[in-house]
Amino acid sequence: MQEYYRKIQEAARHIKEQMPYPPLTGIILGSGLGDAMAAVSWDLTLPYSSIPHFPGTSVKGHAGELRIGRISGHPVVVQAGRFHYYEGHDMRTVTFPLRVLHALGIRGLVVTNAAGGLNDAYHDGLLVGISDHINMFPDHPLRGLNDNRFGDRFPEMAGAYTPRLLERFLAIGRELGIAVESGVYLGLPGPSIETPAELRFMKMIGADLVGMSTVPEVIVAKQLELDVLGVSIVTNMCFPDTVTEENMHTKVLEVAGKAALDLFEILKVLLEETL
Ligand code: HPA
Repeated sequence: MQEYYRKIQEAARHIKEQMPYPPLTGIILGSGLGDAMAAVSWDLTLPYSSIPHFPGTSVKGHAGELRIGRISGHPVVVQAGRFHYYEGHDMRTVTFPLRVLHALGIRGLVVTNAAGGLNDAYHDGLLVGISDHINMFPDHPLRGLNDNRFGDRFPEMAGAYTPRLLERFLAIGRELGIAVESGVYLGLPGPSIETPAELRFMKMIGADLVGMSTVPEVIVAKQLELDVLGVSIVTNMCFPDTVTEENMHTKVLEVAGKAALDLFEILKVLLEETL
């Protein structure tokens, strides 16, 4: 644990030596979301390979770099490329970058992902503000000795998705004429896609969205007392009784890439308000 803390501090120190200003908000980009921010001119871009103790990414659609810049004047640090549990990383590795962003001084986190839609009212390309989650990962990022420098041994999870940010996300979306909903995200280890019986079960227990990320990071963010906005892009609807032959990952990247532009429009307004 001491070692983990030291590695986080070393990575943060390396970034701090180069960063032009301290970021206030961290943004974790999900699959296929990277291109939406192509119009931002970054003041610092650091490949993960240049940062001490950062692992490498292997997933298509995930760049593998940290970017610092301003969106509507608001200083942000973007984690472009995340580490997934299904890649074989343990939970400490999955949440390492977020802990480094926290060590840089962020107060808030915007965490995005591509997800399957379980709620019949959803459709491909819809943006869904996450209201809560169901954790079905077989491991936990806070398992093991608790380092009190990170926070409580038994952190509360109610309110992990900051209600005020979710409300603003929904209101801004509607003002801009962008379709938005809210819902509960269920996190699974993957990498296999759910069976029809699993999909029926997930709907039954109250999930609106299913995906393979986000939950570990949000648990850590809550322990670190960060404000969190979680947004899923519904890249495919999950119908238990329809067998699809299409390549899931290709579709995920395509649909997410388009909807991410709308998401970015909402974030521009939200970040300007929270200056
Ligand atoms: N299942 C799990 N993860 C996903 C899906 C899905 O249908 N779509 C995007 N990520």
